[in-house]
Amino acid sequence: MLGGMRAEEVQSDITRVLVTEEQIRAKLDEVAAQVTADYEGKELLLVGVLKGAVMVMADFARALPTHVTMDWMAVSSYGTGTRSSGVVQIRKDLDTDLHGKHVLIVEDIIDSGLTLSWLLTNFASRGAASVEVFALFRKPDAAKVEVDCRYIGFDIPNEFVVGYGLDYAEKYRNLRDVAVLAPHVYS
Ligand code: IMP
Ligand code: MG
Repeated sequence: MLGGMRAEEVQSDITRVLVTEEQIRAKLDEVAAQVTADYEGKELLLVGVLKGAVMVMADFARALPTHVTMDWMAVSSYGTGTRSSGVVQIRKDLDTDLHGKHVLIVEDIIDSGLTLSWLLTNFASRGAASVEVFALFRKPDAAKVEVDCRYIGFDIPNEFVVGYGLDYAEKYRNLRDVAVLAPHVYS
């Protein structure tokens, strides 16, 4: 059951920690160094996908020592379940004109890949100079469509995970680590 304001309830909803806060920080520094080198002399626009990418964006952007701009997009493909519907809907579009911009989409996780492949197609028609993807997590076993992802944080097993922005029914986003959700929560 999704309970109330008790810390023990949160801990009993988790079976094991998969990636710790420290491991995430180290990885973000590593990717930031790579991105800094790759985009030298270029203007970079980071596009975060709400709401899952909020934590990644906040920490990743601060790991970059250069000028960057940020924009956000909200799409929905999941509802409140644990399976991708494949139907993507824009809930909030970008405020930025992508013409001539070097865009790096910052994503929390690639599962089926349906959301990202839809986004990449959508962005292709907006005149960006380049569009690349950074996904903090990827579930390789689950991929239904191939997504060209330039930067990957961690490949993880095909299990439903929560924390560090990732939710189940809008909860658990505030957990510092990324953990496997106990099946009793959603079964
Ligand atoms: P995809 O379209 O199947 O690749 O799913 C992408 C979106 O589904 C992600 O941006 C997440 O919001 C959500 N998602 C996929 N797997 C998980 C998970 O294990 N935990 C929480 N959210 C997930
Ligand atoms: Mg989600």
